[in-house]
Amino acid sequence: MVSMIEIERLTKSYGAFHAVAEFSLTVAKGEFVSLLGPSGSGKTTLLNLIAGMTRPSSGTIRIDNVDVTNLPPSQRDLGMVFQNYALMPHMTVFENIAFPLQVRRVPKAEIRRRVAEALDLVRMPQFADRKPRELSGGQQQRISLARCMVYRPALILMDEPLGALDKKLREEMQIEISRLHRDSGITMVCVTHDQEEALSMSDRIVLMREGRCVQIGTADELYFNPTSSYVADFIGHSNQLPCTVAEEAAGQLTIALGDGSQRQAPRPAFATPPGCGATLHVRPESATLAAAPDAAHALKGTLEASMVVGSCIKHVVRLDTGDTFLVQELNHRGRTRPQFGAPVWVGWPTDAAQLLPPS
Ligand SMILES: Nc1ncnc2c1ncn2[C@@H]1O[C@H](COP(=O)(O)OP(=O)(O)O)[C@@H](O)[C@H]1O
Ligand SMILES: [Mg+2]
Repeated sequence: MVSMIEIERLTKSYGAFHAVAEFSLTVAKGEFVSLLGPSGSGKTTLLNLIAGMTRPSSGTIRIDNVDVTNLPPSQRDLGMVFQNYALMPHMTVFENIAFPLQVRRVPKAEIRRRVAEALDLVRMPQFADRKPRELSGGQQQRISLARCMVYRPALILMDEPLGALDKKLREEMQIEISRLHRDSGITMVCVTHDQEEALSMSDRIVLMREGRCVQIGTADELYFNPTSSYVADFIGHSNQLPCTVAEEAAGQLTIALGDGSQRQAPRPAFATPPGCGATLHVRPESATLAAAPDAAHALKGTLEASMVVGSCIKHVVRLDTGDTFLVQELNHRGRTRPQFGAPVWVGWPTDAAQLLPPS
């Protein structure tokens, strides 16, 4: 793997507060990495540190094998895209994209050629003479991407680039940015608080919390193998039942739930001596409902609500343990209507559940 960015133990402190704390990450050349996390988790601070707009309190950043920790943004060979497109309103699309090249005194013919190339790349060749206000939000964002690509930077950093767009446009732009990434081969780091955006565009996702990385992985790794209840809960929905380990056998554990009932669970990577507490994590789509108890449905509860969300149905069950449990099934014609307030039994395949350290 050839690396584009190597961050080592990077910290940014404001007084006693660490906006980014002891953060390390390596991004490969050509990779698309998303920084995902709730508001205030340090995503923008980290991006600004990579860009050179903020100086770190300690730690190092290397870009393309050069230690840039103390270099200004202009010497880092990178482009930035922001949520508010930051296009100049009095300039045409052509002039907006050409501007950074003019500043660098690139010859006129070369500028025309490169602007045309950038406009082709974002599929807007016919828009060169428009003013930004004559474009939709999505088109403006594509122009700000083109303005960034025209430098041919080795690295593009994006901070919530689709945050100002409505849902439908956002989904189109996610596909568009993925295509641009594939076609250009440029390394991209994108900040987002939207998990769908991160899951759909990234090679890898860095999930952040309070200035630290809690887990790095592909979308599937984070979804199917979260290492903490924080990650399980942040990506998708997670049913989390507190439990106690009753018995350890070869690849399996027997655990006791809050109501004293026992069931099997796959053995996790962390130590689970009998008597230790843990959290049982089950995805809603892994679980099913039954109107009567059977071998696969042993956990009793009461059906509180069923919500039809187009292609699927979400059932909210109040378990006798007191926990709320969400079951998600595919919608289909002629399905039986559930009765609210009726007793129901919840179950899931043993290997679909996962034990996590207690939250
Ligand atoms: N210049 C600053 N001075 C003091 N605190 C700051 C400054 N910039 C950011 N912070 C704090 O650092 C934390 C992380 O901020 P930020 O990186 O913007 O988070 P995110 O982009 O994940 O929402 C926040 O608590 C924020 O208030
Ligand atoms: Mg931010």
